[in-house]
This record gives sequence, structure tokens and C-alpha cells, in this order.
Amino acid sequence: MRTVDRYPEGAGAEGVLAIHDARTVTPPEIVLQGSMILLGDAQRILERLPTASVRCAVTSPPYWGLRDYGIAGQIGLEATLPQYINRLVTVFREMRRVLRPDGTFWLNIGDGYTSGNRGWRAPDKKNPARAMSVRPDTPEGLKPKDLLGVPWRMAFALQQDGWFLRSDIVWEKPNAMPESVKDRPTRSHEYLFLFSQREDYYYDHLAIQEKSDGDGRPRNRRSVWGVNTEPCREAHFATFPPALVEPCILAGSAKDDYVLDPFFGAGTVGVVCQRRGRQFVGIELHPDYVNIAARRLANLFAKVTTHDYHAA
Ligand SMILES: C[S@@+](CC[C@H](N)C(=O)[O-])C[C@H]1O[C@@H](n2cnc3c(N)ncnc32)[C@H](O)[C@@H]1O
Repeated sequence: MRTVDRYPEGAGAEGVLAIHDARTVTPPEIVLQGSMILLGDAQRILERLPTASVRCAVTSPPYWGLRDYGIAGQIGLEATLPQYINRLVTVFREMRRVLRPDGTFWLNIGDGYTSGNRGWRAPDKKNPARAMSVRPDTPEGLKPKDLLGVPWRMAFALQQDGWFLRSDIVWEKPNAMPESVKDRPTRSHEYLFLFSQREDYYYDHLAIQEKSDGDGRPRNRRSVWGVNTEPCREAHFATFPPALVEPCILAGSAKDDYVLDPFFGAGTVGVVCQRRGRQFVGIELHPDYVNIAARRLANLFAKVTTHDYHAA
């Protein structure tokens, strides 16, 4: 193994970020040594992470049929909706092993409408990751213009697979994009689901209390969260707003705990972990997005250490 140290411009002095290219590594287990980004397929890498090693998982997988990330092995381009859901259920089953028994799993997943079998979506010059050459067919049993209902189908499939479905949280987007529709309300929310592995689990409700409307006294956090979407300049896909991820991490982990995001993208979970004194493990398939995440995180870390397994 060759270790390459990079010292990004403007780096602070707080810590070290390790990026492991785990695509070609053979050792059975990846040892967690502080915050790291693991480049490779979520399923394969999860299989190599230690059992019961992370306190909490927060993630937003690729949505079904929405974006082509332009890389082999990506999730989201499955021909049918059940195939997509089954693939994610399998990934999250492996993730359950990696999660501590008292850990929680926070899942943000988007919905969409049947395409009416239009088949093609025009490439979008401004947003290459959005350009889809093929849109999936209308799923069996659904009609053109039907709402797919992906989040709830996913939630029930995970429940069926053994997860405890503890809460649906409505992420309300005050700054939602306008839509050119006149026969239904403009969509301005997404779902976030809270799952656990057992009836009792770590959940620090005090860490995420909110002010009550009347006297402003602290009260237990409600299940509708109003959070503006925030564009990430470098990423060509939807990133988490940090304010959406923060309550999940504060309630789901203590200081120094490991937080996992198996679909790390531009690394928002890492950014919040870094701000809040948690360690993170981010898995991401696309090397370009690993670089984006590393650049974003480099401003928060003293030194970026790249373990280049290809050069071993
Ligand atoms: C919706 S984005 C995640 C964005 C992230 N929450 C953020 O704030 O930046 C989904 C990510 O999953 C990645 N991805 C797709 N298939 C994957 C796979 N098989 N294994 C790991 N990552 C994958 C995509 O490259 C993309 O970056």
C-alpha cells in the first residue's frame, strides 16, 4: 500500500481525513481509524466493515429512474421498481450488521411520477447527472401520471425485512421549486424515515428539542421539519441540506461515535459530523464525487491522507 499525503490549500489544523480506494483491496475487513471516505460499491464495502461499529446511519440513496450518475454499478437505473427496492433492502440489510444493535437508521428517499412510458428524457446541459437516456417503464399495476409512492414502498419493505419503522418525518421545503402543473399541488416535501433494529435504541431527544409555538419553551421535536434546500456548487445532484442531517446526527449519536453514509455523494453527512464532533464513514462509488467531498471536507481538516490501494 502506498500512502499519498496531500495538503490542501487553506487546510486547518484539526484532524486527518483518510480516503481509501477500496475497489481493489482484498483484506476481509476495513479497520475504522477515524473519519474516512471509502471509494467503491456500497454493498461490497459494507460487507467488509466491522460488525456493530457505527452508532447511526444517515443516507439518501439515488432515487429510482431520476439520474444517471454515469458509472457502472450505480443504483437507481434498475429496470423495475421492485428490483430497485430489493437492491436497496439488500444493501441496508448488510448495513444493519455494521450498525450497533442500539443504533438508528435515517433514510431520506424521494418519490416521482410514472413517465407515461415516454421512454426518453432530453439531456440537460446544465445538469449532466440529470440526463437520462432511458426512463423506466410504468411499474406494473400503476397508470400514467400515478405517483410512484417509492418512500412508503421502501419503508414497508424494510419493515418486512426486520427493521422497526419508528417515524416518518416530513421534510417540508419552504423554497421548493415551482412545477408546471395545474392538476395537482406542487410537491414541496420529501420523507425521512427513522428506523431502529430493536424496540429500545439510542435517541437523544433532548439534543433536538424545539421551541413550542406558545410560550417558546422547549418541547419534543415534531415530525414535520421545515428546511430549505441548498444547492451545492460543485455537485450536479441533490445534496442534503446540513440542517436536515443535523438533528438525525445529534439524536442518533454521541460525541466521537461513528456515523455512516453508504451513499456519501458530496459528503454532507461528513460536514455535519465534523462540525458536531462525530466521526464518519462515507461510502461513494463515483471517484469524482469522492473528490468533491474531499475538497469540501478539506476546509475542515488539517490534512487529507489518500491511501491509494491501486498503487500497492
Ligand atoms: C442522492 S446522492 C447522495 C447525496 C448526499 N446525500 C449529499 O449530501 O451529497 C446518491 C449518491 O449515491 C452514489 N451511488 C450510486 N450507486 C452507488 C453504489 N452502488 N454504491 C455507492 N454509492 C453509489 C451516487 O454516485 C451519488 O453520489
